Amino acid sequence: MLPEQHDILWTFMTMAFTLFAGFAFGNVIKHCREHEGVNTKLWGSIFGAFFLISFWETTIMFDLVQGDQIKFFFQYQVLTVLIILLVWGVFFKSQNIEAQSPPLIRAFFFWSTVSVVLAGYTNWLPQQRSDPPPKPGSIEIDMNMTMEEYAEMGRVIVFGAAAAGGNKAIGKGQCPLCHTFDAGDNIGRCPNLFGVEARSHTRIKEDRYLNEPFKVGETDPASGVVKGKPMEIDEAFRREGGEEMIGEDYLRESILCPSCYVVKDYGNDGDTKSPMPVIVKPPISLTPIEVNAVIAWLQSKETPGEFASVTVPLPTAGSLPAEEEAPVDDRIFVDGTEPIDVMINILGCPLCHTIPGIEGAVGELGPKLFEKSNAPMRMKDPNYKGKATNTKEYVRESILNPGAYVVFNEEAGELFPDGLMPTTFANQLSVNAIDKLVDFISQTEAPPEG
Ligand code: HEC
Ligand code: HEC
Repeated sequence: MLPEQHDILWTFMTMAFTLFAGFAFGNVIKHCREHEGVNTKLWGSIFGAFFLISFWETTIMFDLVQGDQIKFFFQYQVLTVLIILLVWGVFFKSQNIEAQSPPLIRAFFFWSTVSVVLAGYTNWLPQQRSDPPPKPGSIEIDMNMTMEEYAEMGRVIVFGAAAAGGNKAIGKGQCPLCHTFDAGDNIGRCPNLFGVEARSHTRIKEDRYLNEPFKVGETDPASGVVKGKPMEIDEAFRREGGEEMIGEDYLRESILCPSCYVVKDYGNDGDTKSPMPVIVKPPISLTPIEVNAVIAWLQSKETPGEFASVTVPLPTAGSLPAEEEAPVDDRIFVDGTEPIDVMINILGCPLCHTIPGIEGAVGELGPKLFEKSNAPMRMKDPNYKGKATNTKEYVRESILNPGAYVVFNEEAGELFPDGLMPTTFANQLSVNAIDKLVDFISQTEAPPEG
């Protein structure tokens, strides 16, 4: 090890600390000699051990390069000295000879106790405040899986394993961005999926299903799915022996081909097109096993512990994904190091918004994000009651508190539904990430005509 690779200061400090440990050892021995009834062996070996530990730490410091020296010094050596000071204080106190301890010890005994407690506290603090939620364990798919576990996998795909804070946790499938699932919980532009298992059997008999927005047997251009023909579904997703449409097929078709049937009043262009994305295409891209897991959950969610209504099969050896494919990736937190398009896709903004500059962001449930011109217009509206005074502030407010101002939908001639845009993004964004997102969205503008 060349001398210039050490940091002079830390090398000096480590030697000083070892000398200090030696001094403490000598001092304790001296007091043991001067007083009667002191367990010299006990105290001598404790402080001897401290001295040896410090010496050993110094030898380690000599083997480290500069950058690692600082880390090691603060991680271990400072801790050792603090403990020495503490025990030294305990020694004087237990022998009732505090008055004879060096003033340094008397001061430090108090101070080091406080700082050890503080150090423990500050170590613990950041984890409580700003760490991203723990990466939830993905559910293992194996041959011995039960239907209960498979339906639970579906639930995790829908809601994620870890709540993102608030009550609207969101998993890889992103469904809760738009849908609600409990009786009576209606937020606006997307149907509540309560009771969808029962509906799945009756929908397919409706005249509306057979003929609108296009007839059974015709192909949906957006997804390539032939409506009402389970035999013609892409092989990877196909149910075995699927001659006749059953409830399961309706649910699968809703996920693979949202426009095959558009729930009344929930579609665009006079209920001819669904604003729901094709869930097996990017950005959501559920795999066949995941789609079936979601169906298993949808079919059993209203009968806890009871899986008789589930008709999807458990995954078989042939259908298991390769090892390296994590079956459930519910990344919900962004820290701002991601490229902007990745960040925006994780958050799910493209499902509802058209965003210039983000490929595939053609969502239609919310306003087109042309904020360079939209934001100044919104703030001039007499109905605007928010606090923003410039474009960036308006965009930040719209993301963190969407209800501050509800945008008017010119095309539909009514307000966009309030309460549809999730209010939980603050829990999914680091400080850097929100800045980066606001910077980007503030610059969005309508593409030039033509
Ligand atoms: C961007 C918003 C959005 C997302 C995300 C979304 N949906 Fe939908 N979904 C809708 C809308 C709007 C409708 C109603 C129009 C239609 O029938 O397609 C709908 C309809 C449905 C229906 C038919 C309901 C019925 O009563 O017949 C099912 C089933 C469904 N969605 C399941 C899902 C599942 C499962 C997910 C997640 C994997 C999901 N959706 C994600 C917007 C969304
Ligand atoms: C589930 C659908 C949905 C999702 C997901 C969503 N939004 Fe929205 N957003 C809306 C709706 C609906 C409105 C209009 C109603 C309102 O103003 O609250 C809106 C309004 C906005 C506005 C105000 C637009 C204007 O022109 O005044 C901004 C900015 C915005 N959203 C940004 C985002 C960003 C960024 C994300 C992702 C982090 C996002 N939204 C995710 C539905 C959504």
